[in-house]
Amino acid sequence: MAEQKKGTILSGMRPTGPLHLGNLAGALTNWVALQGEYDCFYEIADLHALTDRTDTSAIPEDRLEVLLDWLAAGLEPERSVLFIQSEVPEHSLLYTLLGMFVPVSWLERVPTYKEKIRELGLGESASFGLLGYPVLQAVDIIIYKANAVPVGEDQLPHLELSREMARRFNHLYGEVFVEPQALLTKTARLPGTDGRKMSKSYGNAIFIKDPPGEVEKKIKMMFTDPKRVYRRDAGHPDRCNVYLYRRLYEAAAAEEIYEDCKHARIGCTDCKLALARAVNEYLEPIRQKRAEFARRPDYLRDVLDDGARRAREVAKPTCDQAYDAVRLTRARRG
Ligand code: TRP
Ligand code: SF4
Repeated sequence: MAEQKKGTILSGMRPTGPLHLGNLAGALTNWVALQGEYDCFYEIADLHALTDRTDTSAIPEDRLEVLLDWLAAGLEPERSVLFIQSEVPEHSLLYTLLGMFVPVSWLERVPTYKEKIRELGLGESASFGLLGYPVLQAVDIIIYKANAVPVGEDQLPHLELSREMARRFNHLYGEVFVEPQALLTKTARLPGTDGRKMSKSYGNAIFIKDPPGEVEKKIKMMFTDPKRVYRRDAGHPDRCNVYLYRRLYEAAAAEEIYEDCKHARIGCTDCKLALARAVNEYLEPIRQKRAEFARRPDYLRDVLDDGARRAREVAKPTCDQAYDAVRLTRARRG
């Protein structure tokens, strides 16, 4: 029986390696929950992964890592369309078209563009693709006429631009696209083990696929309340990253943990061990599912083939509509 859906969702991740607890808490858990409510398209944005690198050798493996983490976390190919961006060529076709109508000044203003150039020291070597990143992202969304896009706050400028591009195209050539709304992820933003943003490149990430011993090792090294020097000192859980984690993974005991820390009834070493146990307990079923899927490469290939096929069923008609709208109607494309 088909469920009554609220609309269409698209979201994506760039394949930059295995996913971590930050991705899980900040996005994936929410994506999984949305599967019942919306028609969901989830994309592995491999073209986007090329915008800031020239060494592409890790991409094939990274794409599969993302798929494994998605399936392990609970995205279901029976309920969502899981696909690889480059396997739906209509993204590239529409990207070419949309690029003709997007003022360069819009793109130069995007904060992430300048940040990336600074962060990676790209200077004069920043690519055309990096500048065009938001155009490709807009295509990802509007080619499915998605009305909602679950994203974190950092993606809001891209979303705003997607709306502007859809509006501009519709204004110039007639109503083809739907203006997408951001669906701000309410879930927690989980910092890395050192308190900075969790990121593979900072070396502060706990990965979904980390074995239990690795998780424990990483948690043991976590920064705690800097003001708590001796075991007898009162702790300040509000300033402690470990507490933030425990509140998330041991929600029912959060108050008790808070009080125990404040009254020095627990030491930081024990506190971290308790956290490691809780995180491992949470991750165990996910890790097991991941390992099972990893043993079925043919199934993974089928999921992606089927995903690309179902994505194209929606993307191609939209792309055709857009080409028609600008009078580039081709003699019946196959
Ligand atoms: N830019 C997104 C990120 O870095 C990834 C992405 C690509 C995306 N295409 C998208 C997100 C479309 C939402 C919708 O997280
Ligand atoms: Fe942080 Fe726990 Fe130590 Fe308190 S006891 S400071 S919450 S690690």
